[in-house]
Amino acid sequence: MTDIWNRLISHRQAQGDLRIDALFAADAGRARNFSTAADGLVLDWSKTRIDAPALALLLELAQPVAARRDAMFGGERINETEDRAVLHTALRNLEGSVVVEGRDVMPDVRETHARMREFAAQVRDGRFAGQGGKITDVINIGIGGSDLGPAMATRALAPWHDGPRVHFVSNVDGADIADTLKGLDPATTLVIVASKTFTTIETMTNAETARNWMAQTVSLPAAQFAALSSAQGRTAQWGIDADRVFGFEDWVGGRYSMWGPIGLSLMIAIGPEQFERFLAGGLAMDNHFRNAPLAENLPVILALVGIWHHQVCGYGTRAVLPYDNRLARLPAYLQQLEMESNGKGVAMDGSDLTVPSGPVVWGEPGTNGQHAFYQLIHQGTAVVPCEFMIAARGHEPALAHHHLLLIANCLAQSEALMRGRSLDEARALMQAKGLQGAELERQARHRVFPGNRPSTTLVMTELTPYTLGQIVALYEHRVFVEGVILGINSFDQWGVELGKELALKVAPLLQDGNAPGHDASTEHLAELIRALRG
Ligand code: F6P
Repeated sequence: MTDIWNRLISHRQAQGDLRIDALFAADAGRARNFSTAADGLVLDWSKTRIDAPALALLLELAQPVAARRDAMFGGERINETEDRAVLHTALRNLEGSVVVEGRDVMPDVRETHARMREFAAQVRDGRFAGQGGKITDVINIGIGGSDLGPAMATRALAPWHDGPRVHFVSNVDGADIADTLKGLDPATTLVIVASKTFTTIETMTNAETARNWMAQTVSLPAAQFAALSSAQGRTAQWGIDADRVFGFEDWVGGRYSMWGPIGLSLMIAIGPEQFERFLAGGLAMDNHFRNAPLAENLPVILALVGIWHHQVCGYGTRAVLPYDNRLARLPAYLQQLEMESNGKGVAMDGSDLTVPSGPVVWGEPGTNGQHAFYQLIHQGTAVVPCEFMIAARGHEPALAHHHLLLIANCLAQSEALMRGRSLDEARALMQAKGLQGAELERQARHRVFPGNRPSTTLVMTELTPYTLGQIVALYEHRVFVEGVILGINSFDQWGVELGKELALKVAPLLQDGNAPGHDASTEHLAELIRALRG
C-alpha cells in the first residue's frame, strides 16, 4: 500500500504544473472518458489533474474496498472499536433479506417501517390529533445525525411537502427552541424526540423545555410526544408510550440514520410513498456500489477524486457547492457525514495514520457563494477542489429562465476555475480600457486568474426524493471507500467525547467557581463570565 501512495505522490510531482486544459487538448474524449454514471446521475470529474496513470494507481489503492464492502453488507462487525455491524443500508432494502450473525433483521426493520408509515399517515390525515385537533406543526428535537439528515432532506424536498409544517430544534442555546415555539399552538403540535442514545444533553434539555411548554395548556403532554431511539428503556422512563416509540438497532450509526425512524419527520412532511422513493434511490445506489466494477463505480470514483485531491495533492479542504437553494443544508449534513466519519488520526489497528485523515468539508449553495467566498476559490493562494451539483430541471416551470441562469452560473464557475485568465488576457482588457505603462501592468496583475483549479460536477435530471436518496447514499459510500483506503474506522466518533465530558465539569465552575482541575485560561474565562452574568 505504502508503495502505491509513494508512486501516486511521485506521479503528482512529475506532473509539475501540468494544466488541466492540456489534458483535454491531449484527449478529445476526456470529458466522456472521465465521467461516471449511475442510474441517471452523472459525475464529470474530467476537470481534475487525474490522468490515466494516476487513475490506474488510484484504482490499485481501492483494491481492498470490494472485500470490505461485502463484509459491511454481509453484517460483519466492521465497526471494530464499537464491536458493531454497519447496516444502515438494511433500512432502505425493505424487500430484501439481511442476515446478521444468523438472524434475518429485515422482519423487525419492516415492522418498524410499517408502524412509522401508519403513524405518519395518521398524523397527516388527522386520525392522530392533538388536544386541539389535527396536527399543524411537528417539532423534531435532535442533534447531529438525529437532526441534520431529516432537516436537510425536508428542505430539499419542499415541492413534495404536503403534510404539517415541520420544525427542527437542535441547539442547546435556548434561542433555538424559544424561536421555534413562538407562534406555535401546543394543542396542535407533535414533538418528536430523536436521539439514538436518549442521553444527549442538548436533546434532553430541549425535550424537557418542550414538555413544560406543552404542559401549560395541554392536559396530557406526553400523548403528543413520540420518540425515535435505540434506547427503549429510557424512552419509557421519560414517559413516552411504546406505541409512539420507533426503535432501531445499534448497527445504525447516528449520521447514517435518516433512512429509518430518524426520518419520521421527513416521512410526515412528504408522506410515506415519497419517503419510500427516497429509500428506493438509496437502494439503487447500494446496488450500483455492490455490483459495478471499481472503475465504473460512482462512489469509488468520487472517493478516489477525494483521495487524489487531499492525500495526494495536499489540498486541505473541499467545497460542496450545490446549485440548488433547497440543498442549502447539504454541506452541513456532509460535514458531519464526512468529518465525523473520517476525521481520525489512528488506523483501525491502533497505529498512527501515515497519510492525512479526511479533509475539511464546507460549502454553500450557488449562486450565493459566488458573491461571498468564490473570490478566494478563484484567486486565493489555497487550492480548493470544488464539487458542483446541478439539476437539469427546476421545480418552477414558470421560472425556467431562473433555472437556466442557475445552470449557466454553475458551468461557468467550473470553466473559469479550470481556464483562468492569463496576464496577457488581463493586459488586453486593461488596454481596452485605455490604461498604459506601469498602471496598466499593476491593474492587469489584479485581474489574473491562475486557473488550473480542479472541480467535479454532479448532474441529475431533477432533484426528487429518489435522486436525493441516490446522492445521500453516494456520499455515504464515498466516505466508506475513503475510510477503507485510509485504513480507519469510519463508523465510530470517539473525538466528540472529551468535550462532552468536560462540559459537565465546566458547568459547576460557571455556577460557583468551585470546581478544581481546570486550566488557568478556562478558570479565568469562567470567572470573567461569572462576573459579567452578575
Ligand atoms: O456528539 C456526536 C453524536 O454522538 C453524533 O454522532 C450523533 O449523531 C449525535 O451526537 C446525536 O446523538 P443521539 O442521536 O444519540 O442523540
